[in-house]
Amino acid sequence: MALGDLPVGEEKRVRVREMFDRIAPRYDALNRIMSLGLDQRWRRRALDKIAVGPADFVVDLACGTGDFCELVEARGARAVGVDFAREMLRQAQSRGLGFPKVQGDGEWLPFGTASVDVVTCGFALRNFVSLEGVLREIARIVRPGGRIALVDVDRPAFGPLRAAHSLYFDRIVPFVGGLLSDRSAYRYLPKSTAYLPPPAAIRTLLSGAGFLELEREVLLLGSAQILTGVRGPLTPVGGRAR
Ligand SMILES: C[S@@+](CC[C@H](N)C(=O)[O-])C[C@H]1O[C@@H](n2cnc3c(N)ncnc32)[C@H](O)[C@@H]1O
Repeated sequence: MALGDLPVGEEKRVRVREMFDRIAPRYDALNRIMSLGLDQRWRRRALDKIAVGPADFVVDLACGTGDFCELVEARGARAVGVDFAREMLRQAQSRGLGFPKVQGDGEWLPFGTASVDVVTCGFALRNFVSLEGVLREIARIVRPGGRIALVDVDRPAFGPLRAAHSLYFDRIVPFVGGLLSDRSAYRYLPKSTAYLPPPAAIRTLLSGAGFLELEREVLLLGSAQILTGVRGPLTPVGGRAR
């Protein structure tokens, strides 16, 4: 099954991994340009919102080149980064970021049930084959009372802003990406926002996975978002609540 001309299922998994392996060397530079230099500020804001501190063990899912892990460690917390693209992890290493790096898939995380205080995830939700499966897996590893912070792109709802954003995101970003990195990858990137469910649907997925106290903060007039939540109690044996 296809979503427009976007791949789904196993084809998506393979193509996304190959794409990030390809663009890894220029990823950081392009990321800063595309977010107008705001991406690290948004990650910092996300960590502030869920009060990440020295006592926390944090898994950064889809860690890429390590921006979230770097900020987590700067707070004295312990960070492990998981990503399925080997070249993105290599790039993190070549930046001198020493946090433990695990090459793995978000749908099968190599951590015990309720073993983690915090999960963060930056700009990756639309890349997963099954967002629902990944959120369930995150819910499995986060302890009750643990927190999550997910940062991702969004599109402004207000007409004129949406049009201006679309000019930037759908035209300028692929053009600049094509010049400085990989043309097909940076064409795919704006299109891939079609994978991202609307806010109400993400909320339903998060609460279905077992997260409470859900909040969504809109950034830069609706062009990005931070989703936060707290892990509810584990499912009692034979019970229905998650
Ligand atoms: C847009 S990059 C974001 C990287 C980083 N989190 C950041 O904030 O810059 C998306 C990352 O998600 C990773 N990714 C996509 N699908 C994944 C999956 N199923 N499991 C693990 N990593 C995945 C990609 O390899 C890539 O590094």
